[in-house]
Amino acid sequence: MKRILVTGGAGFIGANFINNILNKRDDVEIVNLDKLTYAGNLENLKPSEDKKNYHFVNGDITNSELINYLFQKYKIEYVINFAAESHVDRSILGSQIFYHTNVIGTNVLLEASRRFDVKKFLQVSTDEVYGSLGPTGLFREDTPLSPNSPYSSSKAAADMMVNAFYHTYGMPVVTTRCSNNYGPLQFPEKLIPLMTLNVLSGKKLPVYGDGLNVRDWIYVIDHNEAVELVFENGREGEVYNIGASQEMTNIEIVKLILNALGKTEDLIEYVKDRPGHDRRYAIDSSKIQNELGWKPKFKFEEAIQKTITWYLENKNWWERILSGEYQKYYNNLYGNR
Ligand code: NAD
Ligand code: DAU
Repeated sequence: MKRILVTGGAGFIGANFINNILNKRDDVEIVNLDKLTYAGNLENLKPSEDKKNYHFVNGDITNSELINYLFQKYKIEYVINFAAESHVDRSILGSQIFYHTNVIGTNVLLEASRRFDVKKFLQVSTDEVYGSLGPTGLFREDTPLSPNSPYSSSKAAADMMVNAFYHTYGMPVVTTRCSNNYGPLQFPEKLIPLMTLNVLSGKKLPVYGDGLNVRDWIYVIDHNEAVELVFENGREGEVYNIGASQEMTNIEIVKLILNALGKTEDLIEYVKDRPGHDRRYAIDSSKIQNELGWKPKFKFEEAIQKTITWYLENKNWWERILSGEYQKYYNNLYGNR
């Protein structure tokens, strides 16, 4: 049995990760530590909440006393750090919480992992640490870090810290850097769920700038399978890029969603650009493909339709987010906080 501390497991990618791994494996015990910020939703974990090898702890990764206690209580052997403030627009409005959680939080986890001699520490990072590409070229693992937003700079700082703990203390760390995810359970502030829900409610679709910024999209299940593979077989001290080579402009995505929902383009509204808006991201994932044998299973055309259908079929999930009801689910399960 592998005892793993998974942080941020009530968010979009972490919850998909936990539900997926607990559905297919019984050789792992997961302790999910999540602060339940606005982005954390315990309802995401309904498929896992009754499993014996799953435990939820409501807490903050920056709380070193709590982290030390959890390492002892659950005899933690492995850490997978998904927890982060993750939304670029929010980091532009206020950067402090981004540096607190993403940098200090990672430091607290690394220090505890060092103290308790963890067997592996996996840092879930992002392609945004590489900055912005021109019309050609791809991010490789040796592309210099050049982050442009408070969010991406906080993630880059954490990546460098992880690297420092490997070189200085010989800690068994590994880092993944993935491109833009989409799929079920994504909080409706990110492009795809936001546009989908706006179309469903007849609201305008705010496209930043000229709509021609490019993102490289990957289905969340493909990302998580890569994370699991790196967790099992990734070489210590290494970075692995994860991406599905699916570049799209934002306006293409918006039009695709309109088309899938049978609505016309007059809902599109071009608005003021995001400050410091990165123009293009695109991932070279040949390292993980060649070294670990990973490749994406989902084709964009099918998985985006599957995603839109999921939002259509799970109205209750997103209505509870829009109304704020989802934040009461903790009390239903565990009593008043
Ligand atoms: P998310 O915002 O949906 O979820 C983040 C989770 O972390 C939430 O459950 C939140 O409550 C929790 N959290 C925040 N601060 C915390 C703290 N101080 N202590 C404990 N828990 C805390 O994010 P996501 O999209 O699921 O992203 C997960 C990770 O993957 C992040 O590290 C992000 O940088 C990275 N990533 C995301 C994408 C993407 O497209 N969404 C792509 C590449 C990498
Ligand atoms: O590349 C990986 C990153 O992808 C992750 O590290 C981040 O956590 C995740 O939030 C995401 O960052 P982006 O900034 O690329 O994602 P977002 O969904 O916010 O925006 C995608 C693109 O769509 C971006 O070019 C901005 C644009 N956009 C976004 C919103 C929310 C709009 O045009 N209008 C919008 O309302």
